[in-house]
Amino acid sequence: MKTIWVLVVLMVGVVNLRGAECRKAKKRVENTLEYSAISCRAHSASITDYGGIGDGKTSNTKAFREAISHLSRYEADGGAQLFVPPGQWLTGSFNLTSHFTLFLHKDAVLLASQEISEWAVIAPLPSYGHGRDTAGGRYISLIFGTNLTDVVVTGENGTIDGQGALWWQQFHKKKLKYTRPYLIEIMHSDNIQISNLTFLNSPSWNVHPVYSSNIIIQGITILAPVTSPNTDGINPDSCTNTKIEDTYIVSGDDCIAVKSGWDEYGISYGMPTKQLIIRRLTCISPYSAAIALGSEMSGGIEDVRAEDITAINTESGVRIKTGVGRGGYVKDIYVKGMNLHTMKWVFWMTGNYGSHADSHYDPKALPVIQGINYRDITAENVSMAARLEGISGDPFTGICISNATIGLAKKAKKVPWTCTDIAGVTSGVLPKPCSSLPDQGPEKVGMCSFPTDNLPIDDVEIKKCSYRMG
Ligand SMILES: *[C@@H]1O[C@H](CO)[C@@H](O)[C@H](O)[C@H]1NC(C)=O
Ligand SMILES: *[C@@H]1O[C@H](CO)[C@@H](O)[C@H](O)[C@H]1NC(C)=O
Ligand SMILES: *[C@@H]1O[C@H](CO)[C@@H](O)[C@H](O)[C@H]1NC(C)=O
Ligand SMILES: *[C@@H]1O[C@H](CO)[C@@H](O)[C@H](O)[C@H]1NC(C)=O
Ligand SMILES: *[C@@H]1O[C@H](CO)[C@@H](O)[C@H](O)[C@H]1NC(C)=O
Ligand SMILES: *[C@@H]1O[C@H](CO)[C@@H](O)[C@H](O)[C@H]1NC(C)=O
Repeated sequence: MKTIWVLVVLMVGVVNLRGAECRKAKKRVENTLEYSAISCRAHSASITDYGGIGDGKTSNTKAFREAISHLSRYEADGGAQLFVPPGQWLTGSFNLTSHFTLFLHKDAVLLASQEISEWAVIAPLPSYGHGRDTAGGRYISLIFGTNLTDVVVTGENGTIDGQGALWWQQFHKKKLKYTRPYLIEIMHSDNIQISNLTFLNSPSWNVHPVYSSNIIIQGITILAPVTSPNTDGINPDSCTNTKIEDTYIVSGDDCIAVKSGWDEYGISYGMPTKQLIIRRLTCISPYSAAIALGSEMSGGIEDVRAEDITAINTESGVRIKTGVGRGGYVKDIYVKGMNLHTMKWVFWMTGNYGSHADSHYDPKALPVIQGINYRDITAENVSMAARLEGISGDPFTGICISNATIGLAKKAKKVPWTCTDIAGVTSGVLPKPCSSLPDQGPEKVGMCSFPTDNLPIDDVEIKKCSYRMG
C-alpha cells in the first residue's frame, strides 16, 4: 500500500514537471523569431534599446545610427543583429556595418524621411562619373553600406517605404539639385543577403549592389506606381556572383536592370557584372523590360543565367540597350523559360540608346554584343515578336533563339520581326523569324545553350538563425 502511494505521488510529480517544462518551452518558441541567413549573430539588440519610437512621426535617424555604431563593436566578436519591432519607424539614412543583421518584424515599416535637407550628398559613382538625374553628386541611399563584409538585411516580409512621391514631383518639376536616393545601396562589399522584405515607393532605384560580390537577393516584393520615374527594381552593377530569386516586382522602370558603368567612366573603371543568376522573377512594368542589360554596360556584362521568368504586361521581355560610346560588352547571356503576357516586343535589342554621361565619350568605343541565348518561351498578346537593332559596322552576333511560341495580339504589327545589323540562328520559333536568323530545322529545338554547372553563389550554406524578443 505504502509503496503504491509513493509511486502515484512520484508519477503525478513527473507529469506536473513535464507540463511546466512544456509551457516554458512553448513560451520560448513564441518569443523567438527564426530566419534563414548566411551568418547568425552572437549579440542582439532592438531599436527600442536605443530610444527608437515607432509612432510614424518621431525621427529614428539618431536611434539607428547609434544602434549600428554601438553594435559595430561586435564585428570581431560574433557579430550583432538589430531587431525592428512592429511599428512605423520614420528615419533618415543610416549606414550598415560588417558582420551585422538588420531584421524587420513582419509589421515593421521603415518610413524614409521626407526632409530632403536630412539626406547627405555623396560623390557620383566612379564608373558613372556623373549622377543619373543631375551632373553633380547624389543623395545617399536610405540604407547604405560601403567596404563591408557579411551583411544581412532581412525580415518576415517587413516593409521599407521610400515615400517617393515627393521625389518624383521634384524630378518632374526639374527641381532636384542632386540625383535621387535609392532604398538600399551596398558598395565595395562581399557576402551580402537581402531577403524577405517589401520595398515600397522608392524615390528612384530600389536595390543597388555595386562593386560587390557574393550577393543573395531572395523573397523580395517591390511595389511602385507603374508611372513612377526610374523606379527600377534591382540593379546589380559591376557585381560578381549574385543570385536574385523569388522576386515579385511592379514598378515604373526595368524590373531587373543589369549594369556596369557609363561610357568613358565605365570603360576606365572596367568592372563587369558577371556570374548572375535570376530565377523565378514575376514582373509587371508596362513601360519597361522584365530584364534589361544596360544601357550602362561599359564595364561589360557576362554570364547571366535567367530562368523561370514571368512577365504580365511589360514593354519587352529581355532588352539589351547600348550605343556608340559605351564600349564594353554583353556576352554569354542565357535565358530559359519565359512565360509572357501582353507586351510590345518579346526580344528587344537597341544599338542606338542615346543618353551619355557627357560629351567626352569616345565615338570609337563600340560595344560588343555576342552570344545571346533564349529558349523555351511562350508569349501571348504581343504586338511584335522582336525588334533587333545592332550598330552599323558593329553587328550583334551569336544570337540563338529556340523553342519560342509567340502569340500575336489582335492588333499586332503586320511585320512581327525587324532585324538590322544582327546575326544568329533559330529553331522552333513562331512566327517565322527574319532572314538574318535562319531556321536550323525542328530537330535543333533544344540548341540554344544554358549552362549546367553551378555558380559558387548556389553553394553558399544558409543557416537557421533566431532572435529572442526581450
Ligand atoms: C524567406 O521566407 C521563406 C518563407 O517565409 C523562407 O522559406 C526562406 O528561407 C526565407 N529566405 C531567406 C533568405 O530569408
Ligand atoms: C555613411 O557613409 C558615407 C560614405 O562613407 C559617409 O559619407 C556618411 O557620412 C556616412 N553616414 C553616417 C551617418 O555616418
Ligand atoms: C573601399 O574599397 C574601395 C575598393 O577596394 C577602395 O578604393 C576605397 O578606398 C575603400 N574605402 C574605404 C573607406 O576604405
Ligand atoms: C509581402 O508583402 C507584400 C505587400 O503587402 C505582399 O504583396 C506579398 O504577397 C507578401 N509576400 C509574402 C511572401 O508574404
Ligand atoms: C519548349 O518550351 C516549353 C515551355 O515554353 C517547354 O515546356 C518544353 O519542354 C520545351 N521543349 C523542348 C523540346 O525543350
Ligand atoms: C492585349 O494587349 C492589349 C494592349 O496591347 C491590351 O489592351 C489588352 O487588354 C490585352 N488583352 C488581354 C486579353 O490581355
